[in-house]
Amino acid sequence: MGTVETIKADESAAGSSEGRDALSVVDRRTGKSYELPIANGTIRAMDLRQIKTGADDFGLMAYDPGFLNTAACTSRITFIDGDKGILRYRGYPIEVLAEKCTYLEVAYLLLHGELPDQKQYEKFVHDITYHTMIHESLKKIMDAFNYDAHPMGMLISMIAAMSTFYPEAHNVHDPKVRIKQIHRLIAKMPTIAAFAYRHSIGLPYMYPSNDLSYSENFLTMLFTTPAEHFKPNPTLVRALDVLFILHADHEQNCGTNAMRSIGSAHTDPYSSVAGAAAALYGPLHGGANEEVLKMLEQVGSISRVPAFIKEVKEGKGEKRLMGFGHRVYKNFDPRAKIIKRMAEEVFEVTGRNPLLDIALELERIALQDDYFVKRKLYPNVDFYSGLIYEALGIPSAAFTVLFAIPRTAGWLAQWEELLEDPENKIARPRQVYLGPGDRPFVPMNKR
Ligand code: CMC
Repeated sequence: MGTVETIKADESAAGSSEGRDALSVVDRRTGKSYELPIANGTIRAMDLRQIKTGADDFGLMAYDPGFLNTAACTSRITFIDGDKGILRYRGYPIEVLAEKCTYLEVAYLLLHGELPDQKQYEKFVHDITYHTMIHESLKKIMDAFNYDAHPMGMLISMIAAMSTFYPEAHNVHDPKVRIKQIHRLIAKMPTIAAFAYRHSIGLPYMYPSNDLSYSENFLTMLFTTPAEHFKPNPTLVRALDVLFILHADHEQNCGTNAMRSIGSAHTDPYSSVAGAAAALYGPLHGGANEEVLKMLEQVGSISRVPAFIKEVKEGKGEKRLMGFGHRVYKNFDPRAKIIKRMAEEVFEVTGRNPLLDIALELERIALQDDYFVKRKLYPNVDFYSGLIYEALGIPSAAFTVLFAIPRTAGWLAQWEELLEDPENKIARPRQVYLGPGDRPFVPMNKR
């Protein structure tokens, strides 16, 4: 190896490389060594670029499919410690927020960084309540869907369509314009979701009521008919509100990453939320709650549980235990714990869902099984949430919609943070090209 030459990375990038907050890297190809500053437990990927074999070399990149170990932003919104099972919004433990707050209080916290005082809360509730109506022309778009259209397909399309109704939303650099769209989106999501459900079962749309809370209003829009007013049970209203709190944000997951990625192009918030909702729709993400219900129905009885677990293990990743596993939580998902407890309260009102016993048995066996223990696979938020949604009378196809409604506050808080971040740049990852090099074109008759 040749002489070792030490090169310092740009110290302005991530803190000083003096002292111990630096990573020493030796490039064995060239014998050169580099000092890369470490700040907040990270090195800057751009600091790798100076590591080259020669003037023609592009420079070293980090390869990280699926972003397993890449921080794409700094954030002050949600904290997760996956090994300890900790989830906090703006510093407050999720367990405390779920016990003491309403969903709208938590949405305010996510968006503004602090819990609202009484006056701020009343104004926020007013601002949301007075934006719940949707444009009558949006209803016509809803009418155009087939009766059996998937509720998430309808929701995503309707959110995207909203961008055409509020052209001022394109001015994403004006904080006043942004907050107006934030109120509209949080307010209108339940209305659109309820209209999608009504459309699918052929009932007339029910308009929102300003005298009801966010969650009560949603359940009322779902189940009131022109012939009979529906008054939801307060325990079920509270359960839905808690589910909304638990789903409100989850730092840089697939949907939020989509929101930030689209938002980084300065796209309007409606189109960005539609993109984030599309990511959420996938069965490995928010779509898992619908898949859990299908899976429990497919298992069918407690006696079939061991055979099902065997099939999952032999499937080697092809067949998964839906509602199990998480990229970040490797001990337990604190949201799943809260939901499991709440399921009992809900079933006291609605009667016990027999699928719960199958779910409990699946969990019991899986948590003792080496396959799941070794891979640190535990029930996640989606494992029990579907059982509660079902108890509320919501069809399984609409479960992911119930995830998207509260996650809208998180997406928008992350979008606000992105637009205010001086380091914000358009998201544009690199690739490792492994395809053919330059080759001669072959005319059609010679191929
Ligand atoms: N059932 C069986 N095996 C699993 C499961 C599962 N649910 N999840 C992961 N594994 C196995 C996987 O086959 C792999 O095994 P091996 O090391 O032998 O190849 C190992 O565990 C690691 O899995 P991974 O796919 O590399 O892990 P990941 O961090 O990329 O994926 C996940 C995380 C949530 C996508 C995955 O656990 C999964 O597919 N779970 C089922 C779907 C689900 O419940 N999703 C909801 C997630 S929570 C809410 C949300 O984010 O929306």
